[in-house]
Amino acid sequence: MNKLKSFIGNLSTSITTADDSSSSSNQIRHRLCKVNELENGQMKEFEVKTPVVEATVLLLKQNNRYYALSSRCTHCKLPLVKGVFANGRLRCFAYGSCYKAETGDLEDHPGHGSLQKYNIDIVDDQVILVARKQDLEKVECTKIPEDLQCDTKATVLIVGAGAGGFTCGDTLRQNGFRGRIILFTREGSLPYDRVELSKQPLKSPKELLLRDQPYFRKAKLELNLDTEVKSISFHSKTVTYQTLGKQLKSEQYDYLVLATGLRPRQLSKNINGQELRGIHVLRSLEDANNIVNKVKQEQTKNIVIIGQSFIGLELCGWLTTGLPNFEHKNNNNKLSAEEQKSEQKKNVTVIMRESVPMKKIFGEKVGRALQHIHEKNGARFISSAEIQDFTGESNMVTHVHLTTGESVACDMAIVAIGSEPCTEIYKNSPIEMTDDNYIRVNDRLETSVENVMAVGDITEYPLKIFNYDQGIRCQHWQMACSEGHHAADTILHKLGYNSSNPNPHNERALKQEFYTVPIYWTTQNKNTIIRYCGYTTDADNCIIHGDLDGEFKWVAYYLVDGYVRACAQSQLDPLSSEVAEVFYQKRNIRKEDIEHDMYGYRKYLNIKINSK
Ligand SMILES: Cc1cc2nc3c(=O)[nH]c(=O)nc-3n(C[C@H](O)[C@H](O)[C@H](O)COP(=O)(O)OP(=O)(O)OC[C@H]3O[C@@H](n4cnc5c(N)ncnc54)[C@H](O)[C@@H]3O)c2cc1C
Ligand code: FES
Repeated sequence: MNKLKSFIGNLSTSITTADDSSSSSNQIRHRLCKVNELENGQMKEFEVKTPVVEATVLLLKQNNRYYALSSRCTHCKLPLVKGVFANGRLRCFAYGSCYKAETGDLEDHPGHGSLQKYNIDIVDDQVILVARKQDLEKVECTKIPEDLQCDTKATVLIVGAGAGGFTCGDTLRQNGFRGRIILFTREGSLPYDRVELSKQPLKSPKELLLRDQPYFRKAKLELNLDTEVKSISFHSKTVTYQTLGKQLKSEQYDYLVLATGLRPRQLSKNINGQELRGIHVLRSLEDANNIVNKVKQEQTKNIVIIGQSFIGLELCGWLTTGLPNFEHKNNNNKLSAEEQKSEQKKNVTVIMRESVPMKKIFGEKVGRALQHIHEKNGARFISSAEIQDFTGESNMVTHVHLTTGESVACDMAIVAIGSEPCTEIYKNSPIEMTDDNYIRVNDRLETSVENVMAVGDITEYPLKIFNYDQGIRCQHWQMACSEGHHAADTILHKLGYNSSNPNPHNERALKQEFYTVPIYWTTQNKNTIIRYCGYTTDADNCIIHGDLDGEFKWVAYYLVDGYVRACAQSQLDPLSSEVAEVFYQKRNIRKEDIEHDMYGYRKYLNIKINSK
């Protein structure tokens, strides 16, 4: 552990003397350090305290040049100094957002929005920050001009406004597309952070928004809420959609992006009692709201979760450890101590087909450890069991009956048994699909139909970092955003923009091919977070270092043919971001490298140890 600490050396320096900074009403000049204080490849965080503004700034040194950026990741505003700075890229330690050091531009997600970039003056041997007050006050910048002028020369229609669809539209605009961008979503909300629904279902819709209404107006992103696309004519390039008022309308496109995501898988139709009230699924904000309302009810005591993957177990964690005191009031409008105690407690049972939860994703050992954590927090697990049927009273579910013969009392059931693609509108079309209805795309996110791209959970795509050209599915937030980003760049390439014909509205480099490292995470409760990078289908072929049963501080390396192809870790930040960076650089980590040394991958990573 000490080795890790010295390696990262989270640096934070405060320079506050009057001599250090000077400021006009708007322009700040602030001494940060001496020119030789950082080595190439190092970064350091500085607090900038002046009479007119207080901020933190991240200083990076590369090829003997200094760069100053805003210091917090645009995703969850965590300190970037804890991340990885390698080959001119800065990767956040937490969920892997990447930024270009020279410009602060967002290179990979889950964040949206770039870092603020500030100027540096070198005077004698001093590094001086030069920045406007208002820029120091902002954490992020978006590349949308205040007076954005659009034309109607090209129209991009985007079906779906989730992670993939929104990111595509937003990146198009930020990367200089000036035609019309029209998004359709069946949901009634602006695009939001779906991943939080199973972790913090009580968050208000406003807290979850990726961008607010004024942003959509400013960026001229035409968002059609409560609008369902019913059919697409790929021949006449027309999308037909139904509005909330049930009107059928149509719109023509030059470029089309399909981003319709998944829906929860239903239980087999043979299972009786599924029409009873109190049986829920979770995909949307509306679903989360329904779950919260049901959980809040005093009579909801026995909650059954059917399924043992991400959504099921995250909800289990929230129900056992994350419930606040809901405001149930007696006649005096006050909660008695007795009421408070009893209403907090829910009996949570997880019913799973498999013997160990999340075995397919993290392997048996990690899965068992997770089960123990949930059991310690009061959840009960029933393994190797299938649902026979539901029974109820007054149209409300009261019991779930299992094929093992057991019956479980159940005031509420949450069915979390996986998902299936929302791709029926592309069936019987020229779009090439897999046998189980996913869309095949190439390394530019193009489908088999010209000028039609597909992104997000509905796609099967080549994974270039490991040369998996046969196509994989990795249905996670960062991948969906990253695909949306690349599809936007593909459209700009199609419009003829390239290095010899740069887009006049865009200073950023366009991506050539879909090249990213899959990153995902799960928050099983607020103290149990697993971060993952890479891709494997054989989670039990792994080497684990650390403690799974006590403090839950560990790393698992997943192997394919003797090479590390994925890694999961808990409480060892920024380990998975470092490994992601090795994958990104296409260096092979061998089994021997990490077998006896959990940091054995570092020899492939050209990063500097920060010093005090
Ligand atoms: C509860 C939950 C928790 C999750 N937690 C994590 C996590 O911790 N980490 C992680 O990496 N990933 C997580 N995920 C997965 C992640 O949210 C998805 O991978 C991501 O949202 C996929 O983005 P997408 O754009 O493909 O689809 P979505 O975000 O689902 O968006 C699909 C969009 O298509 C629209 N749509 C569908 N059909 C039509 C139609 N016919 N007409 C108009 N609009 C249509 C929908 O309204 C929606 O706007 C979680 C998912 C859920 C549901
Ligand atoms: S806080 Fe950096 S990726 Fe989320």
